[in-house]
Amino acid sequence: MELHSLFLIAILAGIFLPAPVNSAYVAYNTSAGVVPGKINVHLVPHSHDDVGWLKTVDQYYAGANNSIRGACVQNVLDSVISALLDDTNRRFIYAFFERWWRQQSDALKAKVKRLVDSGQLEFINGGMCMHDEATPHYVDLIDQTTLGHRFILDEFGKKPRVGWQIDPFGHSAVQGYLLAAELGFDSLFFARIDYQDRAKRISTKTLEVIWKASRSLGSTSQIFTGIFPVHYEPPDGFNFEINDVSDPIQDDPLLFDYNVRQRVNDFVAAALAQANVTRTNHIMWTMGTDFRYQYAVSWFRQMDKFIHYVNLDGRVNALYSTPSIYTDAVFAANKKWPLKTGDFFPYADRENAYWTGYFTSRPGFKGYVRSLSGYYLAARQLEFFKGRYSTGPNTDALADALALSQHHDAVSGTQRQHVAADYALRLSIGHKEAEKVVASSLAALTSSRLKSMQCPLLNISYCPPSEANFTNGKSLVVVAYNSLGWKREDVIRIPVSSENLVVRDSAGKKIESQLLPISNISLLTTEYLVKAYLGISASGSARYWLAFSASVPPLGFSTYVVSSAKSTESRSFVSTVYTSEEGSVENLEVGQGNLKLVYSANEGRLTHYANKRNLVTTLPELSYNYYRGYNGTDRVFQASGAYVFRPNGTFPIEPKAQVPLAVIRGPLLDEVHQQLNTWLYQVTRVYKDKEHAEVEFTIGPIPVDDGYGKEIVTKISTALSSNKTFYTDSNGRDFIKRIRDYRADWDLDVHQPVAGNYYPVWHLKFVKWRFSVT
Ligand SMILES: *[C@@H]1O[C@H](CO)[C@@H](O)[C@H](O)[C@H]1NC(C)=O
Ligand SMILES: *[C@@H]1O[C@H](CO)[C@@H](O)[C@H](O)[C@H]1NC(C)=O
Ligand SMILES: *[C@@H]1O[C@H](CO)[C@@H](O)[C@H](O)[C@H]1NC(C)=O
Ligand SMILES: *[C@@H]1O[C@H](CO)[C@@H](O)[C@H](O)[C@H]1NC(C)=O
Ligand SMILES: *[C@@H]1O[C@H](CO)[C@@H](O)[C@H](O)[C@H]1NC(C)=O
Ligand SMILES: *[C@@H]1O[C@H](CO)[C@@H](O)[C@H](O)[C@H]1NC(C)=O
Ligand SMILES: *[C@@H]1O[C@H](CO)[C@@H](O)[C@H](O)[C@H]1NC(C)=O
Ligand SMILES: *[C@@H]1O[C@H](CO)[C@@H](O)[C@H](O)[C@H]1NC(C)=O
Ligand SMILES: *[C@@H]1O[C@H](CO)[C@@H](O)[C@H](O)[C@H]1NC(C)=O
Repeated sequence: MELHSLFLIAILAGIFLPAPVNSAYVAYNTSAGVVPGKINVHLVPHSHDDVGWLKTVDQYYAGANNSIRGACVQNVLDSVISALLDDTNRRFIYAFFERWWRQQSDALKAKVKRLVDSGQLEFINGGMCMHDEATPHYVDLIDQTTLGHRFILDEFGKKPRVGWQIDPFGHSAVQGYLLAAELGFDSLFFARIDYQDRAKRISTKTLEVIWKASRSLGSTSQIFTGIFPVHYEPPDGFNFEINDVSDPIQDDPLLFDYNVRQRVNDFVAAALAQANVTRTNHIMWTMGTDFRYQYAVSWFRQMDKFIHYVNLDGRVNALYSTPSIYTDAVFAANKKWPLKTGDFFPYADRENAYWTGYFTSRPGFKGYVRSLSGYYLAARQLEFFKGRYSTGPNTDALADALALSQHHDAVSGTQRQHVAADYALRLSIGHKEAEKVVASSLAALTSSRLKSMQCPLLNISYCPPSEANFTNGKSLVVVAYNSLGWKREDVIRIPVSSENLVVRDSAGKKIESQLLPISNISLLTTEYLVKAYLGISASGSARYWLAFSASVPPLGFSTYVVSSAKSTESRSFVSTVYTSEEGSVENLEVGQGNLKLVYSANEGRLTHYANKRNLVTTLPELSYNYYRGYNGTDRVFQASGAYVFRPNGTFPIEPKAQVPLAVIRGPLLDEVHQQLNTWLYQVTRVYKDKEHAEVEFTIGPIPVDDGYGKEIVTKISTALSSNKTFYTDSNGRDFIKRIRDYRADWDLDVHQPVAGNYYPVWHLKFVKWRFSVT
């Protein structure tokens, strides 16, 4: 037996030993460019490095907290740069460079500048982040892009040519025409579109289009747009991060697993499959994905070999490329492209996975970003009036924090909790500094030597200076600043503790003002929140809101003086309060001007809306409902979550008993207060001089003790027939027509009738209807 086995081994070794060779060294020829007449496979090396998501932006950068996710952006850039320096044919595209750049030596910076000049390293997109497209305002998108582009222009003298929004979860019209076409980009690329849309585009070769996203602007607003056939990864089998399972090319004949022939065949097959769904003979392979190239040579080594052997084979041509090179090649092919209008919302990647949940995820954070974005606009204007300090307090930190917050895992609300806290901290640091700019600029503009204070916590009716008692001739000066380009007439409100107040304008003329009692709920939350956040006790010294009409010129300010009234005749009107529990009035009419709301006091609900001027009368119904989250698992049974909205049933929120109405009336505005249940409080406002009603609701904490997540919605029903049609804005601009259960580009299979009909709304949604006056 033993002899027998020895014999076998000897024979096997004899058969498989390759012929001896002197050297296994191969000089790979990676110099290929575009070859006309062949299928050209553009290998585009990239690393998608989120500026915060599962880890904070700094944790990702430094490779901290790798137990959450092994990712270190510093490793990516260090290793990519040295790999590019090793071979001048290699290329790489990158979006966020600033953190790494400022830590490099002058010697390395000079080398990197040469890489950028030669086109080996190309900046794409070029903003401070790859912004979300559903939830930000277009001004914030312009600002964050400007900041990033200015950095690239200052340091490298370059302007990015290509939009690269590969990861955001759906694509807005404003992105297409404003942040890409009008910005001067030649092309725009992304991955995520609806799975049904993609299937149709693959079968009709319409993944590459001319996107005309604006209905009103001309040809400068349209852009060549490429949608990837799968995602922003390489085709299957061509991932080469150190732990990836793709087969490397083994071309040393001394090694047992020599596989050049087979890998070249795999490459050609994948290329032909993609060429089959593409109109030109150029195809792009996105060589990389999230946080890849931490050891860049691992990728470049394989791409070097593929380019070398595939081009020796000759069936297709493989080359190192970038989206700009690809764009030039595709334009040179001079094809006709299909036209795409509208936008790419909503996005579903599978039947039950509509990514419409993030439109409302982390509403508190979304609100914070939104209010600071308005504040930043005003602060920047005031900074300009006064003159900017480059070292002293300025608005730069707020600008940076806001820019970062537009990232597709920031304002979208899809980041982990500690990451959300990190973004909020940056915003708050920026805000604190900008407050100083605003204070000194306003003091200069108003030639005031008074101590000024701002009240960022007005949202919880907390403002110590306005809550002081104005005795001994002390008074409060309120400065209202208007950052918009048109005059504003608005009612301002500040919390006060005294009843005996009068408001005068800067000429000393008395202004009509009204005191409204602060509702119990907001008093309770103020006390609780001030204690929780500021650690001080604010036991509700504010008892009223003092409301007065302010008129502020465009890009200007008005001042108002609040002081103790000398006589009862001159003081603010104290609102009259009526609660439906007290009397037996059947119909309660609210509103002092053209618009009236009529409530049924007995039932505690709105029954009528009437506008005296345009004679519109309707019977709107305002109710609250909740969707119960589908309690599935992450992938297989698709749960409802921060990204994906998947409701499992709609339930009305019915008050336990009849809800009393509290009606507050005064010369400027009327309010109707309703405590619908322990966690839902609603205020409806009608201003004398305005023709719309304002509904404010305070919701939370949402009860989840039954084990189900809930999405609370307010529902406005009317008898108007809108024919399933409505219009929603795009990042605060334009309106896009939407039809329920319908898509203009393909025949929609409806699997999620609720989640599939949600669209992002920044500020307005409307319906059109015909009505006749009888
Ligand atoms: C390298 O490849 C290119 C085309 O892919 C070819 O033009 C060139 O001659 C090759 N160089 C060498 C040294 O083989
Ligand atoms: C990240 O790491 C730091 C330092 O090790 C640790 O204090 C912190 O708790 C970690 N954060 C998270 C979210 O794990
Ligand atoms: C190309 O498309 C045709 C028709 O759809 C199909 O029959 C063929 O298999 C495809 N070829 C490759 C390489 O995918
Ligand atoms: C009020 O605004 C501050 C930021 O200025 C925010 O931190 C806080 O959560 C807000 N409070 C409420 C109750 O919305
Ligand atoms: C102002 O006066 C009221 C009533 O006189 C008093 O309750 C309140 O504590 C005073 N507030 C302050 C801030 O002094
Ligand atoms: C509000 O608070 C006042 C005084 O604490 C109390 O009398 C009143 O019943 C409260 N109203 C409601 C609706 O809870
Ligand atoms: C969906 O709702 C039904 C009825 O309320 C419930 O029985 C079921 O468990 C829910 N399923 C999931 C996955 O949440
Ligand atoms: C939801 O699913 C989780 C995990 O499967 C389970 O622990 C929980 O009990 C479920 N909740 C309900 C209400 O079924
Ligand atoms: C309703 O809309 C459809 C198409 O969306 C249209 O064909 C039809 O004429 C409309 N009906 C009315 C009454 O406007």
